[in-house]
Amino acid sequence: MSGRLDKRVAVITGGGRGIGAQICRTFAEEGAVVAVLDIQQEAAEQVAEEIRGSAGQAIAMACDVTNRDDVEQAADQIERELGPLNVWVNNAGVSYILPFLECTDEIWDRTLNVNLKGAFLCCQAAIRRMLSHQGGVIINMSSQSGKVGNSHYAAYCASKFGIIGLTQSLAVEFAAQGIRVNAICPGVVPTPMWDTQIEDYARKRGLKPEEVMSYFESKIPMGRIGTAKDVAHAALFLASDEADYITGQALNVSGGSVMH
Ligand SMILES: NC(=O)c1ccc[n+]([C@@H]2O[C@H](COP(=O)([O-])OP(=O)(O)OC[C@H]3O[C@@H](n4cnc5c(N)ncnc54)[C@H](O)[C@@H]3O)[C@@H](O)[C@H]2O)c1
Repeated sequence: MSGRLDKRVAVITGGGRGIGAQICRTFAEEGAVVAVLDIQQEAAEQVAEEIRGSAGQAIAMACDVTNRDDVEQAADQIERELGPLNVWVNNAGVSYILPFLECTDEIWDRTLNVNLKGAFLCCQAAIRRMLSHQGGVIINMSSQSGKVGNSHYAAYCASKFGIIGLTQSLAVEFAAQGIRVNAICPGVVPTPMWDTQIEDYARKRGLKPEEVMSYFESKIPMGRIGTAKDVAHAALFLASDEADYITGQALNVSGGSVMH
């Protein structure tokens, strides 16, 4: 198997399902050697097995991105088993939709810990190692909620705006050492994440849960909801040599919903 990421070692956090799992599949189809990291080991194993079953190369690892030891151990093991890290995608994330005044310390901390501190810890682990070889590529998963504030999304928006600040800062700091750092800002993509929050979103808009996706569709200029493949294709482009002169960007993948 060969392709646009031929033999690159690529790490995807939160790779056990949803958008992360699709990025793993797409990268493997393009020849990458994929490390699927997830707090849910079984889910990560399933994705890695599926990739190996289609003649791709993948290993799975349990890793909680909020835990520095987990992250450093995973990075060490990946370099030991697969070779120098080339691409690291910070995709693991959590989302809670609730009125700001109901947001507890626990929900705030959990959101910021997984979405933003997790990316901080993983960027340190990845960049330290990338500096010791020929550079590399980091992709951080932000959101349209990283570009535009939204009611009932204060913690999530704060974390995803933060991701863009982190991305731009690292892009500048490490540009001269051959490390490119970009973010992706997806719109709505139906994944297991939505299974747990669709009722909260329906409550926010006074809709029935089954009306939520068509409500979103009616607001998207291109008239359709996003797919995990839409996001994975953007990640593939940013990870590939075709994006060699692109760093510090936050690429919208949202059917025209956000244009800045
Ligand atoms: N689905 C959307 O509509 C959408 C839109 C914009 C941005 N995003 C972002 O895309 C990313 C993926 O979202 P998704 O919809 O696929 O979500 P998902 O909930 O379906 O998958 C997230 C994965 O991250 C893993 N994870 C959670 N906490 C973790 C931790 N501490 N350490 C390691 N792994 C952990 C989960 O086990 C899960 O496998 C997230 O960062 C999310 O914020 C999603």
